[in-house]
Amino acid sequence: MEISKIGVIGGGSSYTPELIEGIISQASHLQVKEMVLMDIDPRRLEIVGALATRMVNKVGLPTEIALSSSLEQTLEGANFVITQVRVGGIAGRILDEKIPLAYGLIGQETTGPGGFSLALRTIPVVQKIAEELSRRSPDAWLINFTNPSGLITEAVRRSSPIKVVGLCNGPISMRKYVAHLMGLPAKDLYIRTIGLNHLNWADQILGQGENLLSQVIQTISCHPELIDTGYFPFAPDLLQSLQLLPCAYLQYYYNREEKLDELKKATKTRGEEVAELDRRLLLKYADSNLEEKPKELEARGGIWYSEAAIELISSIVNDKGDIHTLNVVNNGAILDLPEDAVVEIPCLVRREAVYPLSVGRLPLAVRGLVQAVKSYEQLTIEAALEGSYSKALQALLAHPLVPSFGLAKQVLDAFLGAQKDYLRQFG
Ligand code: G6P
Repeated sequence: MEISKIGVIGGGSSYTPELIEGIISQASHLQVKEMVLMDIDPRRLEIVGALATRMVNKVGLPTEIALSSSLEQTLEGANFVITQVRVGGIAGRILDEKIPLAYGLIGQETTGPGGFSLALRTIPVVQKIAEELSRRSPDAWLINFTNPSGLITEAVRRSSPIKVVGLCNGPISMRKYVAHLMGLPAKDLYIRTIGLNHLNWADQILGQGENLLSQVIQTISCHPELIDTGYFPFAPDLLQSLQLLPCAYLQYYYNREEKLDELKKATKTRGEEVAELDRRLLLKYADSNLEEKPKELEARGGIWYSEAAIELISSIVNDKGDIHTLNVVNNGAILDLPEDAVVEIPCLVRREAVYPLSVGRLPLAVRGLVQAVKSYEQLTIEAALEGSYSKALQALLAHPLVPSFGLAKQVLDAFLGAQKDYLRQFG
């Protein structure tokens, strides 16, 4: 089927060639007349936009690539809008990573206090995008990639009536890595993950006519070298005891001391590495002979995000009725979480709506952690929307990676001081 317009907010991101590749590879199911890339950085937009145009021209795709600095123009008449913004840029990310570390806490861009700071900066911006979208194209779908993806999606849901789903490349990556490990085609595996964005566990891995979860755990346990690859960074006894497969971000909880040590010893934060990678990618993109997504982009963590996004859009447009793992309003799917909380779980995708599939109760071994992180997320959303210092403090106090009031207050004050230009809601 054909759709007339996809708007990409943050279209100057070095990730955009991924999306274009997704549009190219799904072209037999989904024809997109126009793709508008919007960005506040004209230089990035020009470089990335020119590469996107060369990519579609190379394969003869009729999709028109338009560039815009206007939010209103980008949202007007869009069927789908993808948000992939980083408020405060890479410099903001580096502060999110370094400030907690200075207080002896995990410095990570989505998990822990770093993700909290990113959320405070991002919520007002994404809220504005959602408000404008509901005025310009009230029937459009907003697909949010902006991190922390689940938390931001919930903030949009609370403050706007638009149709929004949050997406992450985590679930699709888990499927591909597990398939590779087991020597099976990824399309033949169904993995049910339950929980929140960057805080979820696979409790079913269905394939070959059975639940392969314990075989997968057994296989991982037999390959201790996998611990260092970053994708299954968990001790075999942990996996054997849980009988769940945690997403990689759970290493910040299960391996907290080791991770903290590693982050403290690193000469650069991940944000500093990404800044360098991004600089090199943009130089590469500026080469007018380049007509495809360069291999170097695979060094970024968001690999396969375009596959997740474009397959989702294609499923909605073509009313495929298949299952995607999405960040959506719980509506009773996980009995241990509030009805209005956004959770990351498998959903049935239809043209008119996405329907979360029932999970029931979370296993006792993980229930408390999920509930605590969801409380932190909800307090963070309220703090950001209300500009409330006291709720911001409560949010950090509720976070399992923040051990005391003293540290919560010092880290909060440091964020508010260092990022005040982006945190004006706190006065
Ligand atoms: C993972 C996460 C994404 C995150 C990315 C960071 O893939 O699922 O949410 O944005 O890693 O990758 P980076 O290359 O920016 O460190």
